[in-house]
Amino acid sequence: MPEQRPRVLSGVQPTGSLHLGNWLGAIRNWVDLQDSHDTFFCVVDLHAITVPHDPARLSEDTLSTAALYLACGIDPQRSTVFVQSQVSAHSELCWLLNCVTPLNWLERMIQFKEKAVKQGADVSAGLLDYPVLMAADILLYDADRVPVGEDQKQHLELARDIAQQRINARYAPKGPDGEPTAILKVPEPLILKEGARVMSLTDGRSKMSKSDPNEGSRIALLDPPELITKKIKRAKTDPEMGLEFGNPDRPEADNLLGLYALLAGRSREQAASECAAMGWGSFKPLLAEATVEALRPLQQRYAELRADRSGMETVLREGRDRADAVASRTLERVRSALGFLPATRDHGQQLLDL
Ligand code: TYM
Repeated sequence: MPEQRPRVLSGVQPTGSLHLGNWLGAIRNWVDLQDSHDTFFCVVDLHAITVPHDPARLSEDTLSTAALYLACGIDPQRSTVFVQSQVSAHSELCWLLNCVTPLNWLERMIQFKEKAVKQGADVSAGLLDYPVLMAADILLYDADRVPVGEDQKQHLELARDIAQQRINARYAPKGPDGEPTAILKVPEPLILKEGARVMSLTDGRSKMSKSDPNEGSRIALLDPPELITKKIKRAKTDPEMGLEFGNPDRPEADNLLGLYALLAGRSREQAASECAAMGWGSFKPLLAEATVEALRPLQQRYAELRADRSGMETVLREGRDRADAVASRTLERVRSALGFLPATRDHGQQLLDL
């Protein structure tokens, strides 16, 4: 029998354009995992409406995000690529998990607090519930590992706590040996050190983010070369000479040197020694060139993929079917453990037959 590979699940929201943080912190790491893991990657469109959104753009942004996954090297022959809202088990498991998740676990989520401040009085219940939906995404696939950037660590801990303390500990039936059998697999975060926290170009102490109103703070994966060069030229610097890592008074130097290492394919040591005596005036064009060159193949591939709409739709349809088959089995397991009547047609038939 073929050995079962550990399972991976991750996702990105289709809000605005994906940026270097999404790529270096998450998607880039997904690519290598395809060789050793059973990989599921979804476009989390239900998460995208937890803040006000434009309905006219949602479906196009969803397709673009899926195309970017492929352009970054996700191979639909080896990975299941799908759209979250097309697998209804995500919403349904989210409801079941909502009913066992304490409100105060959600109220202490850092991202909720930060985003809620920005939304003011208009903050939705969905924004508070965001991490429970994320837990449902992960738990439905019995994921062993979840590759994400540093900012998602707290959400992953929440998913673990919900699975372990609120579902398995409370509802797991005892096995033949008298020990509880797990209903949900408890996932591990997979956060690679390098790229886990890409910072803003305009403030080295805050994260590069899609929601920053200043476009100059981030480099989108689809930014044309001139725009990339302009943004890097305007990026915040400091009065010191020479680039270095780890100086707490020089967060911009640390961030931009880290980006250079990742984008130019250098080790951190190589990048640090190459740029140790360089002034900002020489370093910035070097970083701009490395960024443009790193993104060029991705942008070319993206353009081809977007030109073939029906090809993308086929990938997502096949992905949905594969995802749905796994997710609906897990959902049924949870429903049954919580005491619901069976929902699937087969089970329904069995019920009628009783
Ligand atoms: P999103 O769309 O905000 O971010 C997608 C991924 O990009 C990473 N990321 C970063 N990494 C490094 N530096 C940055 N500046 C940076 N900004 C973003 C995020 O850590 C994330 O890995 N809640 C998730 C989406 C989600 C999800 C899931 C992820 C929904 N369900 C299930 C994994 C598993 C999020 O942050 O999306």
